Amino acid sequence: MKKNILVVVGGQSGEHEVSLMSSLSVLNAINEEKYNITPVGITKKGAWKFFDEPVEVLKKKSWEELRDYLKNEEGEDVSLRTNTQNEPKGKLVLWSQHRKEDIDLVFPVLHGPFGEDGTIQGMCEMLNIPYVGAGVLASSVAMDKVMSKRVVSTLGIRQADYHILLKEEYEKSPKEKEQQQLNIEKRFAYPVFIKPANLGSSVGITKAHNREELIDGIALALSYDRKILVEEFINAREIECGILGNYYPEASLPAEIIPHNEFYDYRDKYFDGKSQYVIPAELSKEQREKIQSQGERIFKAMECTGLARIDFFVEKTTGEIYFNEINTMPGFTKISMYPKMWEATGVSYEALVGELIELGFQRFEATKV
Ligand SMILES: Nc1ncnc2c1ncn2[C@@H]1O[C@H](COP(=O)(O)OP(=O)(O)O)[C@@H](O)[C@H]1O
Ligand SMILES: [Mg+2]
Repeated sequence: MKKNILVVVGGQSGEHEVSLMSSLSVLNAINEEKYNITPVGITKKGAWKFFDEPVEVLKKKSWEELRDYLKNEEGEDVSLRTNTQNEPKGKLVLWSQHRKEDIDLVFPVLHGPFGEDGTIQGMCEMLNIPYVGAGVLASSVAMDKVMSKRVVSTLGIRQADYHILLKEEYEKSPKEKEQQQLNIEKRFAYPVFIKPANLGSSVGITKAHNREELIDGIALALSYDRKILVEEFINAREIECGILGNYYPEASLPAEIIPHNEFYDYRDKYFDGKSQYVIPAELSKEQREKIQSQGERIFKAMECTGLARIDFFVEKTTGEIYFNEINTMPGFTKISMYPKMWEATGVSYEALVGELIELGFQRFEATKV
């Protein structure tokens, strides 16, 4: 019997829209001769919804139509239950008044918190159902920029120096605020980058050139997360690398992003579209191989499975390679960097989606002890 894949789209994070864009590409790429597909949307408020229309129709919609459908709370609410009676383990049942779907594997096409951070992965573990991508530990460590830096620092791979600010400490008193600002200024020259620890898509990130911008940037980042980082500025080229596999991961050819704005911000990523992408990146053989092997080492050290996109900086004057961040469910539209890098390496979008599903099943088998 054909296996049934649950494709979860939308989600509660700031990257809801990005997820909808990614999911349309994924829905169109799953080989329906091999698998059945059950798409389910998660609204921004967190409700799970079936889509009214069959997959064939849904696939041809625009992401805006999916967004409006979820925004208007259309569609039947989904109930989840395990099925261990008369069924092999690893079955999840989704049902509503009019529907019942047996699920064999979950494909969470979700970015950011409540999707890429180990929460839905934990739910799948408890339900004993295979899923695509990283497990609970890798997802949550990779989602947190401070935790990822701590893991990478054990590998002797360079990264931007950083200062951690916690909301409860920083906001204790005006004196404490000033002290922390002074500490940052003592450590780093301007400009500095200020980032929430747990977001993506450049949301809440600023580049501060002076004390005033530092104060505003901290306030902005703290409005998104109680833990934030202030980082030294690296004057660098931005090089990304795709990693694919479970326990023997492989690296794609790296690519370069040349941001249009002062840095690669949210507007630039999704709306202005003026950044340039060079795939594969122009690098010496030595640099390329170093990035690929560092990518594989980071993937393994974080105990990732399935996929990850690892982003590096290559310092413009020295050529030094710095780890910047890791994404366990990177943007996944047909024109996103991760699939594009694999395409340049010889793996088509459709083959990539098929491989990720297979890796999900394999990981499930491998973790049964
Ligand atoms: N330390 C840094 N030095 C220089 N540029 C940076 C630094 N940190 C971030 N940036 C710029 O900000 C962008 C977004 O930061 P990043 O850490 O990748 O966050 P996100 O998870 O939101 O993508 C990067 O792509 C880069 O353009
Ligand atoms: Mg980034």
